[in-house]
Amino acid sequence: MPETASLTLPDGRTIELPVIVGSENEHAIDISRLRGETGYITIDDGFMNTGSCKSEITFIDGEKGVLRYRGYPVEDLAKNCSFVETAQLLIWGELPTPEARRDFSDLLTENSALPEDFRRHFTAFPVHAHPMSIMSAMINALQSYDLPGLIIDDEEEFERVSGALMSKVRTIAAAAYKSSIGEPIMYPRYDLRYVENFLHMMFSKPYRDYVPSAEATAALNLFFLLHADHEQNCSTSTVRMVASGQANMYASVAAGVCALWGRLHGGANQAVMEMLSFIQSSGMSVKDYVAKVKDRAEGIRLMGFGHRVYRAFDPRAVLLKDACDKLLNAMHIDDPRLEIAKQLEEAALSDDYFVSRKLYPNVDFYSGIILTALGIPVEMFTVLFAIGRVPGWIAHWKEIYDVPSTKIYRPRQVYTGSVRREWLNRFQREKGYTDSRGFKVPEELRPTQAPQADAVPPTN
Ligand code: ACO
Repeated sequence: MPETASLTLPDGRTIELPVIVGSENEHAIDISRLRGETGYITIDDGFMNTGSCKSEITFIDGEKGVLRYRGYPVEDLAKNCSFVETAQLLIWGELPTPEARRDFSDLLTENSALPEDFRRHFTAFPVHAHPMSIMSAMINALQSYDLPGLIIDDEEEFERVSGALMSKVRTIAAAAYKSSIGEPIMYPRYDLRYVENFLHMMFSKPYRDYVPSAEATAALNLFFLLHADHEQNCSTSTVRMVASGQANMYASVAAGVCALWGRLHGGANQAVMEMLSFIQSSGMSVKDYVAKVKDRAEGIRLMGFGHRVYRAFDPRAVLLKDACDKLLNAMHIDDPRLEIAKQLEEAALSDDYFVSRKLYPNVDFYSGIILTALGIPVEMFTVLFAIGRVPGWIAHWKEIYDVPSTKIYRPRQVYTGSVRREWLNRFQREKGYTDSRGFKVPEELRPTQAPQADAVPPTN
């Protein structure tokens, strides 16, 4: 017997609403009949309690610090898989066979270069343009160079476009960086794998090849893998919303990049580094900084702390903290900001303000130190997050497309603005006559009949 929840409305009517149970025993009340049958809608600011869809891609149990891609714990994937294999898992639902792995690798390699005339666009951006702005614009522009991808009507075409997007995103990111520092854009190399190829395009020069260390490659591989998906977060929900209107994959992913840019979302990794650098250069003690955050007078937050879903710990932060230690040791780097970060974490985790609000380090807290050690400039941090998140966005885009019954995302609202108002011409507005909202004006200034649109001709 399926479960239901019963809702009693103020007028005494009761409606039985079906309860949906997910594969991890998560319970949800299905309100899809609510408005049709009662006239009521639900409201939930920030979607704190609202599931926007059913999805088979990623599972998070925020209370227990669990993150699984397609059922696999992220810790196992981090230990055993490459980013590209993880991308295949997310997009197609299964870890690839050796053959599928090789084919997809070839597809990525074949698609790594940008069309020659496309490369010209990079010079049109101002030198100091933020690479996220270049990245979102250029991903969207890619569609113009890949017209068949506008409509994807079979699996083969979907695979080609996914591979092209995943591969070119990395080339665009490196090209955006090279343009911003006035260096020639490097071509990808056919003999390098995904992560090494990206590092090559970032740091090689036409007259000098950059050869990344195994530790650097492993750290970046892990960084990308841990960012690959995170169910219905702000940018992924944006991708799904755009895709629900049947926008193409490039446009949908470009929208995701824009959403990711915000400081409360993917932009937090840049904000964390800025915060750590500020503490270091100002000489402020960690204790004083934490006190400033708690004081809230300046609206400062402890960046890299807190998460809408994780209420115990963010498993990605645990893995990145460990990777951070290993990388800095292997590269013999002594970054004082790592020490500041650890002190901040320690101070916050023993402070009732953070403990009572269940605020723990999130994925962005240690990732910036890793990226800095790799030589990635701070403005590129969110761009690297975006490269990592592309497979997740593609998987969600596919999920929308694969379900023919998907409806266009179109939430409702509770309107709280003015009720119907009487239109006034400019002259009447100048005299202060107003409507039923309460502002009184002399009787003689009020129109005796409905004002005409042309009573005072527009002057502009
Ligand atoms: N520092 C200090 N106080 C915080 C922080 C923080 N980082 N995060 C939340 N709080 C406080 C809030 O002031 C609020 O306190 P109150 O209840 O006394 O008013 C309470 O904790 C709840 O905070 P909300 O903003 O309501 O929590 P929400 O779930 O909406 O926000 C968010 C989550 C945006 C991640 C928030 O914790 C935050 O701003 N963190 C800093 C930015 C950050 O690191 N973002 C990256 C998130 S991970 C990602 O997107 C990849």
